[in-house]
Amino acid sequence: MRVLFSLSKDRPNKSLIILGLLSLLCGCPEERNEVDAGVVQPLIDVTAIEAIDPASCQRCHQQHYQEWSGSMHAYAAEDPLFRAMNQKFLDQYGDIDPSFCVKCHAPMAVQAGLTTDGTNLDELPKAYQGVTCVFCHTTESVDGLSDNPLVLGDSRTMGGRFGEPIANTFHRSISRPFFQRSNPSSSQMCGSCHDITGVHDILLEQTYAEWSGSFYNNDIHPSGLSCNACHMRGRNDSASTTTPQLIRRVHDHRMVGLDVALTDFPERADQYAAIENALNNTLSAQLCVNEQPGGYEVRVTLDNVGAGHGFPSGATFDRRAWLEVIGREGEDIIFSRGLVAREQAANDMSVEHVLPLWDVALRRNEPTHAFWDADEVTRRAIPAPKTADPDDPRFSEHLKTATLFFPGIPPESISTVVKVRPFGLDIIEALIQDGYLPENVLTYDVPTFELGATRLIWRRADNQICTP
Ligand code: HEC
Ligand code: HEC
Ligand code: HEC
Ligand code: HEC
Ligand code: HEC
Repeated sequence: MRVLFSLSKDRPNKSLIILGLLSLLCGCPEERNEVDAGVVQPLIDVTAIEAIDPASCQRCHQQHYQEWSGSMHAYAAEDPLFRAMNQKFLDQYGDIDPSFCVKCHAPMAVQAGLTTDGTNLDELPKAYQGVTCVFCHTTESVDGLSDNPLVLGDSRTMGGRFGEPIANTFHRSISRPFFQRSNPSSSQMCGSCHDITGVHDILLEQTYAEWSGSFYNNDIHPSGLSCNACHMRGRNDSASTTTPQLIRRVHDHRMVGLDVALTDFPERADQYAAIENALNNTLSAQLCVNEQPGGYEVRVTLDNVGAGHGFPSGATFDRRAWLEVIGREGEDIIFSRGLVAREQAANDMSVEHVLPLWDVALRRNEPTHAFWDADEVTRRAIPAPKTADPDDPRFSEHLKTATLFFPGIPPESISTVVKVRPFGLDIIEALIQDGYLPENVLTYDVPTFELGATRLIWRRADNQICTP
């Protein structure tokens, strides 16, 4: 079920709504800005590009800029996989909706009318590429639940959360609910750009829908957590280099997820480390080995304890996440499931899986790499918890269990771990083969991350059924 942000709760400042209505009636945005901004200070003249360029913000918001510059938001339009897949999409559906992909990956370029299909991104100034500061911070309303329904306001007025910001000469400031993490509309701003409805009108990427239906939805559950509460950690620091004495709560703009730049890109090593760290406590696991008539049963239960949505979430068709289970006698492997070699695709026919966790996009019953073209989806990700109450029948929905039976007695040791790759090697291979991705454009291999808390070892000698 999808939940609409209810206007009755945490109503944005009533006077703002009245002012908004008034400005609609009289068409007087100038006056409205003066009143809304709270603090009035004449702004310096800048060009249209300077006004929206993240590099302009860098001067006063150095730390915010540095964090953002290494984020996937900054990488969104540069990403060679995006470029390749966008071209593939255009070859298929370019006549129908050419800006479908680029409207989320370079929204400012689309807004400014500088691109219609994203094929000319290299000719545009950097300021228009990716999900930029001004794109988020000038959001005035969010008119839907998916496919980037954000409506932007005046590009010199930044929405924020301070209430009483110190005035500066570059932009006006205004308080907006999208930047208050306790206000459910903040998750709608993020989420409606993270949910994608495909060509055939079904929900494909659905991080927001997953969050909405989970107990993290703070519009329904008072103790819920917004996207930002998890993805934008706070620290105490000044918000601008021009106000060094004023210590505020400021928030991480690295927006750590699963994707990493596979080309040279700022902050790459930091992003990599932050992902490993975030993944450590995303899932928990239990491994039990039970002797049974004629053999033994190996049971692994995974619990989505850290993600406010499924795991994986979002681009789940391109992810490869799976459970690895290996039984060993000394160094010898007695049995294995989900054992994938470094250079091997996780969905290679020769890999025997017990719990593959990526979703599969289908077109006319056949798996497809063209996620946008799916008319059906097989979901295999671990859902987000819907309830924290173990007696609630929905409690077990965020658990996934794999059960294996083997004859004989258990080997000396049995180990488990969940592994994840941001992109399937098969996807990259296919893009290269079809001529969409130039062969040598990726500088780095696709990483394989491990989810730390799922690495468990059961030992026969310990004489215990379950670990931990
Ligand atoms: C000349 C310096 C300067 C520049 C350039 C600048 N800002 Fe600011 N910004 C400030 C100051 C000062 C504050 C208020 C800090 C405080 O009150 O602690 C601020 C506050 C903000 C806030 C919070 C507003 C609120 O009400 O909570 C946001 C968001 C913001 N800036 C975004 C941007 C973006 C995006 C850019 C680039 C387009 C930018 N700023 C460029 C100085 C600047
Ligand atoms: C994806 C949307 C998004 C992008 C892109 C983005 N911000 Fe923010 N920013 C937010 C949100 C949301 C908050 C409020 C965080 C909270 O408290 O939950 C925020 C808060 C801020 C604040 C107030 C202080 C703080 O950290 O809470 C400043 C200043 C700011 N951003 C500047 C920037 C600058 C400069 C850039 C680009 C270099 C940028 N932002 C890019 C969403 C974004
Ligand atoms: C313009 C629509 C848009 C908005 C608004 C937006 N995002 Fe994103 N976000 C994207 C795109 C596009 C990417 C991925 C780019 C890529 O990987 O090529 C992304 C990437 C991310 C990632 C990294 C995903 C990964 O796998 O590494 C996180 C985390 C994230 N966004 C969280 C947020 C949060 C939190 C907010 C709200 C403060 C937000 N986003 C608002 C479009 C958006
Ligand atoms: C309870 C904390 C929590 C909340 C709430 C939350 N996330 Fe996440 N998110 C995580 C964790 C943990 C991960 C997995 C670790 C990682 O990828 O960094 C993750 C991963 C992601 C990813 C990467 C995709 C993937 O497969 O894991 C995206 C994109 C994302 N979140 C966006 C969002 C958006 C948008 C919202 C709000 C609608 C949100 N998150 C709410 C904790 C949270
Ligand atoms: C509604 C906004 C939106 C639209 C439309 C959209 N994307 Fe994205 N895209 C995102 C977000 C958000 C992420 C990050 C999701 C995550 O990390 O789970 C992303 C991630 C990606 C990635 C990196 C992860 C992966 O899947 O390999 C690629 C490549 C990509 N998108 C290509 C495309 C293409 C091609 C299209 C058009 C067919 C498209 N996107 C349409 C928002 C969008």
